[in-house]
Amino acid sequence: MKIGLLDSGVGGFSVLREIHQLIPGAQLHYVADSSWCPYGNKPGHIICERVTGIADYLLEAGAEVLVIACNSATIHAVGSLRATYPLPVVGMEPAVKPAAELTRTGVVGVLATEASIAGEKFHQLVNTHARGVRVITRPCPRFVELVESGTLQGDEVNEAIDEAITPLIASDADVLVLGCTHYPFLRPAIEQRLPEGITLIDTGPAVAKRVASLIPELSDLSKEPTNIHIETTGSLEQLDLLLPKLLPDLTASTSEAGF
Ligand code: DGL
Repeated sequence: MKIGLLDSGVGGFSVLREIHQLIPGAQLHYVADSSWCPYGNKPGHIICERVTGIADYLLEAGAEVLVIACNSATIHAVGSLRATYPLPVVGMEPAVKPAAELTRTGVVGVLATEASIAGEKFHQLVNTHARGVRVITRPCPRFVELVESGTLQGDEVNEAIDEAITPLIASDADVLVLGCTHYPFLRPAIEQRLPEGITLIDTGPAVAKRVASLIPELSDLSKEPTNIHIETTGSLEQLDLLLPKLLPDLTASTSEAGF
């Protein structure tokens, strides 16, 4: 069972690591579209077109399940991918529903890209699952830049975090959603800056469970050796530098994207 994954860059590694932890023997083929990063400031139709091209490539390379390890790409492309592709397409969107269920103050902060927040799908998500809850959105493009450069801690990171979360905390949000796959890499730094009693939600583990539910012979897979291949449309040198920082416990082969 080969699982194809894609993201605008290395953010989707936060999903890949959850899938690998749950299904260690699954073959993972990941495309990091780093030369197009960020997706978050691009129009929806452009994201959709680009993501469809990468999905075609993963399909040709033998993917049997496709994981859109990117909220922005899911919001703008998952509908058309599901309608046209002959394989299961797993997407992810900011965890508004669990956040709305968890909040005690009635205020939820959603950290996500502009592209995710602007999509009609996001408004539907809020209208359907967060009625009566105040949902405050906050794009954090700096977080994406920091993770793409492998900067996960330090003054620059702390400043970016404070700028993003201070207004949310001031508005009494008690649940914050990490609605972009890059953001979980800053989770340890974010946790250090949060006051007590604030819950952070990341959708990576739920996506991994969904992927596992699509694989019938899970127990056979756990005996297979790890087989992870990561391609980048950006710099291979940069990918090789980032990999041990972002996925220190994982061995993967890397190459430039073959399209
Ligand atoms: N990692 C992506 C997401 O989950 C997008 C980051 C970006 O390229 O702006 O939305």
